Amino acid sequence: MKIVTVIGARPQFIKAATVSRKIREKCIEIIVHTGQHYDDNMSKIFFQELNIPLPDYNLNIGSGSHGTQTGRMLEKIENILLNEKPDYVLVYGDTNSTLAGALAASKLLIPVVHIESGLRSFNKSMPEEQNRILTDHISKYVFAPTDTAVKNLFNEGIKENVFNVGDVMFDAVLYFKDLAKDKSRVLQKYFLKRENYILATIHRAENTNSVEKLKNIFKGLNESGQNIILPLHPRTKKYIKKYNIILEDNIKIIEPLGYLDMIMLEDNSKKIVTDSGGVQKEAFFLGKPCITLRSETEWVETVENGWNIIVGADKDKIKKCILDFEPKQVRKEYFGDGNAVQKIISELF
Ligand code: UD1
Ligand code: UDP
Repeated sequence: MKIVTVIGARPQFIKAATVSRKIREKCIEIIVHTGQHYDDNMSKIFFQELNIPLPDYNLNIGSGSHGTQTGRMLEKIENILLNEKPDYVLVYGDTNSTLAGALAASKLLIPVVHIESGLRSFNKSMPEEQNRILTDHISKYVFAPTDTAVKNLFNEGIKENVFNVGDVMFDAVLYFKDLAKDKSRVLQKYFLKRENYILATIHRAENTNSVEKLKNIFKGLNESGQNIILPLHPRTKKYIKKYNIILEDNIKIIEPLGYLDMIMLEDNSKKIVTDSGGVQKEAFFLGKPCITLRSETEWVETVENGWNIIVGADKDKIKKCILDFEPKQVRKEYFGDGNAVQKIISELF
């Protein structure tokens, strides 16, 4: 059997780090890197430190508008699929690389396997919501991380080959946490001590594309008076410059981190402020209060369980939650038992 895996953005490298290793024990895997993310610290570092097999094809698509980026990927992926003739095409999550991989395969009648399926924000203005709905509807096997995701799929009439296997990102945290403790020197590098800082990440288009929202977020972070460390996504870097946002002294901006440094920073933080999907979940896995800079989340369980609070770009709420938000309930096991990858493999082979 042959599987072509299409990846292209940071969180997909991390997901593939857990899955590809196992797939390769069972069959031939061809990795296609679309090149959606291309800076060394957004791409290469993950392949190196997480031991992800090097891509067989790198499409070098780079940045662009949604149509341009997705269209260019589609054309090149189609050629590869015609050449490789795989039995399945595997995609993760909800990026433009996900949609391009799924669509190219579906048009050629190659069955699509979608990992991290069924997530919904019910906000169709998000590019990710469009990508995941379309991908789910053209997939043959859909692997959902939670019961909520399964319900969402059922509600849209997707009922065949739906499997709740748990979350491959939970597998990743469990697998790499000890290695991170061993290898990472990030706390020493930035003179950080356990729970004496807040970790923040910002990259969602809904926040970066609005001058008002991005300014309010930085005001909230600043007015909290807390020691904030913020590994900065290149999209956000671009907009901070464009909007001329002045960064105050309590906010330390650093370059994007590798995964091992990132989970080390998460695990030692006091709280996490983020608009990232993956980081919201990792906060939950690691038992850190999460303050979410969005108006809704796909990871509703973390909110229901009281460990995640939705604050949007409201500066007063951001400040108040950084100072006061304290989860009280015991965390429940919504994301599986850390064996999502094994369950996926059992279904596929
Ligand atoms: C993409 C995904 C988003 C995911 C995120 C993970 C889509 C529609 N969005 O958003 O779902 O949460 O990846 O991080 O697929 N840039 C660089 N260097 C890079 C990559 C990007 O400078 O290596 C800059 C470019 O200016 C680019 C901008 O970041 O225009 C945005 O990159 P893009 O991949 O389009 O979207 P993300 O915001 O990264
Ligand atoms: N991450 C990382 N370095 C960083 C920021 C994030 O390794 O500087 C990891 C993070 O730990 C998580 C994943 O990237 O595993 C989340 O990706 P991102 O926030 O870019 O995208 P999203 O999950 O929102 O799609």
